[in-house]
Amino acid sequence: MRLKKIFSRSRLTDRRLAAAHNINDLRRIAKRRLPRVIFDFVDGAADDEITKNRNIAAFGRYDLYPRVLVDVSQVSTSTTVAGQAIDIPVILAPTGTNRFVHYEGELAVQRSAHRSGTIYSLSTMANTSIEDVAAADNGPRWFQIYVWRDRALLRGFFDRCRKAKYDALCLTVDVPILGQRERDLRNGFTIPPSLTLGAMIDAALHPNWWLRYFFMPKFTLANVTGQEESGRDDVVSLGAFVQRQYDPSVTWSDLEWMIENWDGPFVIKGILRPEDAIRAVEMGVQAIIVSNHGGRQLDHTPAAIDALAAIVEAVDGRADVILDGGIRRGSDVVKALALGATACMIGRPYLYGLAAAGEPGVDRALAILGDEIRRAMALIGVTSVSELNASYIRHRPYI
Ligand code: FNR
Repeated sequence: MRLKKIFSRSRLTDRRLAAAHNINDLRRIAKRRLPRVIFDFVDGAADDEITKNRNIAAFGRYDLYPRVLVDVSQVSTSTTVAGQAIDIPVILAPTGTNRFVHYEGELAVQRSAHRSGTIYSLSTMANTSIEDVAAADNGPRWFQIYVWRDRALLRGFFDRCRKAKYDALCLTVDVPILGQRERDLRNGFTIPPSLTLGAMIDAALHPNWWLRYFFMPKFTLANVTGQEESGRDDVVSLGAFVQRQYDPSVTWSDLEWMIENWDGPFVIKGILRPEDAIRAVEMGVQAIIVSNHGGRQLDHTPAAIDALAAIVEAVDGRADVILDGGIRRGSDVVKALALGATACMIGRPYLYGLAAAGEPGVDRALAILGDEIRRAMALIGVTSVSELNASYIRHRPYI
């Protein structure tokens, strides 16, 4: 009985998570628990992964510049993004195929986002459908769009999101074609997942993950299944899959159509140039996500944080600006807000949590960042997000 208690699932999960003091600790646990092919899919990026690493390292060039003798007994991290009030200025970015990471997949992430008082953005490439996410939880939610070659599917997203009461739509614009992720090529990462010899050997090292994977419902891309290649069961690389399905001819006139055909807030994700931000704002988007897709698309772009200030200036208060990419500490979030972002987005940090322990792991990732944001705010002498401005930052060109 006692032994059973000690080894109960929640006890083990609690102990595992108690050992995670920051996002990097969650990453280490994720690396241990996931088969290598899956960890690399999450952790990896395009080509030499220069942009991914730069996204993280660039925060080191922005110093926090504290004011003292400020009453910081009450610190509030709440803010409003695209008309939605949130408790922490961290939104959960769209990430595809969460069931690779943990069998609870997107539902765990949506529930955790809601519990933590923030927004979840469901991906077109999710394993859980628009409708199932909405039925499982009534927290704030966005749907992220990739434009399929079959435009009927795109029109379907609009109807489905309207019916399922999504708060906003978000078009990702930095994937006209897929970036080359060499870790995936080396590992033979495929859609649907297949068992290569290497994966079978790895299965022996991660039996829990594989058992759960095989005993859960069949792997699907739930938002597009039945509309696309449902009849095909050939196994393809992610690059080949995207090339077959995504429409690389999407332009500004498609964005115009989308904004016109959606009644709520519209968000654009993957902007790095101020003139693109201005064009999107003039078309009527409510929020611009400054992002290089976490370095997974074009390598050698500027770090997301380095692209932020010019876009904030160009947008000039006409839309919210969200910083996405490289956030690993609450202090990174505080720096982005001080440089004019309304909020930040995270991708890998919550996926590391999901891999480490499912839903409680996502809770832990958000709690860590929330605590770090509050601590950094108190230590620089601000009590609310609206007080943050560029005077709290010193920029050094070199680390
Ligand atoms: C992503 N990202 C992404 N973006 C998007 O618009 N649609 C998607 O389906 C996905 N899928 C996806 C899968 C995985 C495994 C990762 C890690 C990322 C990019 C994501 O939304 C976000 O831009 C980056 O993750 C931000 O960088 P950080 O926070 O991971 O450093």
